[in-house]
Amino acid sequence: MIICHCMRLSDRDIRAAVRAGATTREQVERACGASGGCGGCGPAVDEILAEEGHGQQVVFLPLQKSA
Ligand code: FES
Repeated sequence: MIICHCMRLSDRDIRAAVRAGATTREQVERACGASGGCGGCGPAVDEILAEEGHGQQVVFLPLQKSA
């Protein structure tokens, strides 16, 4: 599936860049060009980074009742 229409890059192209060592959106851009055009694919690049274990994780802690 095409993710970056500006550079005509698929999810496989972006995933290959991540698996070759890119751990941030900027590194993905340097590796294959994704998100270096209009930037519209940036969130999708972030999603692939997260799927490959390089995203930020949000941890929700339970609220405690005050007495
Ligand atoms: S869609 Fe990827 S930079 Fe424009």
